[in-house]
This record gives sequence, structure tokens and C-alpha cells, in this order.
Amino acid sequence: MGSQAIDSNCITLTRFVLNEQKKVPTATGDLTQLLNSIQTAVKVISSAVRRAGITKLFGTAGETNVQGEEVKKLDVLANELFINTLKSSLTVGLLVSEENETVIEIELENRGKYIVSFDPLDGSSNIDCLVSIGSIFAITKKDDNSKPGIKDALQPGNKIVAAGYALYGSATMLVLSIGSGVNGFMLDPYIGEFILTDQGMRIPDKGQIYSINEGYTHLWDEAIKEYVQNKKDPAKGKPYNARYVGSMVADVHRTIKYGGIFVYPATKQSPKGKLRLLYECNPMAYIVTQAGGLASNGEISILDIVPTGLHERSPIFLGSKDDVNEILGIIKKHKS
Ligand code: AHM
Ligand code: MG
Repeated sequence: MGSQAIDSNCITLTRFVLNEQKKVPTATGDLTQLLNSIQTAVKVISSAVRRAGITKLFGTAGETNVQGEEVKKLDVLANELFINTLKSSLTVGLLVSEENETVIEIELENRGKYIVSFDPLDGSSNIDCLVSIGSIFAITKKDDNSKPGIKDALQPGNKIVAAGYALYGSATMLVLSIGSGVNGFMLDPYIGEFILTDQGMRIPDKGQIYSINEGYTHLWDEAIKEYVQNKKDPAKGKPYNARYVGSMVADVHRTIKYGGIFVYPATKQSPKGKLRLLYECNPMAYIVTQAGGLASNGEISILDIVPTGLHERSPIFLGSKDDVNEILGIIKKHKS
């Protein structure tokens, strides 16, 4: 590593968040502290992901190894890390995790005003084969001091105050929005800090890539079939490229960087799709919208859906403005 490679004034994630805090004169510093704790959880998860094969973190939880020890699955570890760091940040009052059936309550003396919904390690089918996986989170707030309950967790995406995702890909990156655009921070493994590398991320208005699991074609509505067929064999213009990782974080990150569309539709088998509203669709919709894109459930903005259940699912059409509007137009045409 040459000395020219070292920026003596680089913007770390902590510095960035502190600077944002300074812009809000009434800020208490709680959100900064909360984001710091998420940052710590993500760093540890990243390190665990990188070494999982060596430290025997692959496999199913509940299994025992030859020594009779429990084999700890990576996603169980990621969940514990998120819960423990968030609880000890003294800034959260309630947590919702993909891994926990009901809300995680925080004891009174450690309680703060924020509510965090998260998927600690998304892309489970890709964990054991070293394909990119990620963590996703959305932060909302409770305005009064009463004990938070499930109804406080069921807030629509338009109430989010900050959201982000971490991508454990060929590098680890944390992408964050605190309501004023989107910024990306690359984890520098030499110093263990997230460094601002992608300032003011904007999604192109139109892309050349469609991303959907085509194995379910036989289960799609006619509108989805028509749209995908158009992308492959358009009446005019070039066909789109198909890309589908099967890890939402990787597919959404690529969509933000290169443009295009990511779709997980309703199918005959899953009428509400697969992806979960509170900790998959909402945070991603918030970030994509902040980057100038669109996210819809086919009828309304994802961010306007009022959730009724912690693990509620929603179909999702997300990405470049023009691409999402095109598919929404086809859906509308088929309904009329
Ligand atoms: P998971 O929460 O069990 O990991 O499932 C969520 C993942 C998303 O990351 C991805 O977009 C989707 O499931 C892929 O599903 P499918 O294999 O049906 O295409
Ligand atoms: Mg998930």
C-alpha cells in the first residue's frame, strides 16, 4: 500500500454522520449513536462472513459438530450481533428482526426512542456458496415516552428516518440514507473503517437490465409475462440483459449503480410475493427513492403501504424511474 493511497482527510462513516447531526440543531446525538452501533454490527458480520468457511459458520443451526458443539449458523450470529449492539446503544425502544417471530422489547433503563427493523443476513440461499449476501435495516421513531409495542413497529415506509444496507460482496459496502440523498461507504480492510466512496448516489432514469426469478414464469400474471417478453425481444431497440443474484441487497445495489429494474412479483403460489415489507421492501424502497428511482407494489408506492403484520410480504417493482413506470403501465393496461 503506497503512501499516496492514504487520504489524510478521508470521510469515514462516523465523520459523515456527525456532520449530518451538526446540520440539525435539535439533534440529541441518539441517531449518530444508533448508526454507530449498526456500523459495529456490520463490521463484525463482514469479518464473520469472510472467515465463515474457516471458522465453520456454514451449515444449519441446531446441528452439532463432531465435538458435540453446536454449529452456529451465520445468520443466527448476525441476528445476535444486531440485537446486542442495538440494545446496548441505549437509543432503541423496540426491534423487529426477520429472525424473530415477535418484536424484541428493550428493558426500561436501556430504552431509547428509535425502532429498528432489520434483516441481519439476507440471501440465505447464497450463504454457503460464497455469493454476495447483505444486511438491511430501517429506522423509525416513537414520539411519546410510553412503552413501545407492535403498533409502533407497524409504521409505513414514509415514516422512516434513516435506512441502509450492507453488501458483503467482492468488497463490503454500507449504503445509507438519512433522508437527504444516498451515500455509499466502502469498508477499508486495512483500517477497519467505512470510507465515503460513493457520494450522492443517483440511479439512472433508465437502465438496460431486468432482474427477476424467471423460474416462476409459469406462476406470473399476464402483465409480468408481457413485460419480461418485451425486454427479451423488444419490437424496437436492444433487448435488456438478465441479471439475478437471488440476494436482494446485491440485486438492488446493482440496480442503483447500473440502472434497470428489480422485480419480485406476486405469483399464483404467493399472492403477496416473497419479500417482507418492514425490513426488506421498505428500507430498499426508501433508499431507491432517495436515489431518484421508484419502488411500487404494482399499485401504490411501497412507502405508502400501511403494514398490518410484522412479517407481512409485498410484491415489489423497484429501480429506474422509466423502467418502473413502464411495467406499471403494463399492469394497469391488464387491469382495465
Ligand atoms: P431470505 O430472507 O430467506 O434470505 O430470502 C430473501 C431473498 C432475497 O434476498 C432475494 O431477493 C429473494 O429471497 C430470492 O428469492 P427466490 O429464490 O425465490 O428468487
Ligand atoms: Mg431476508
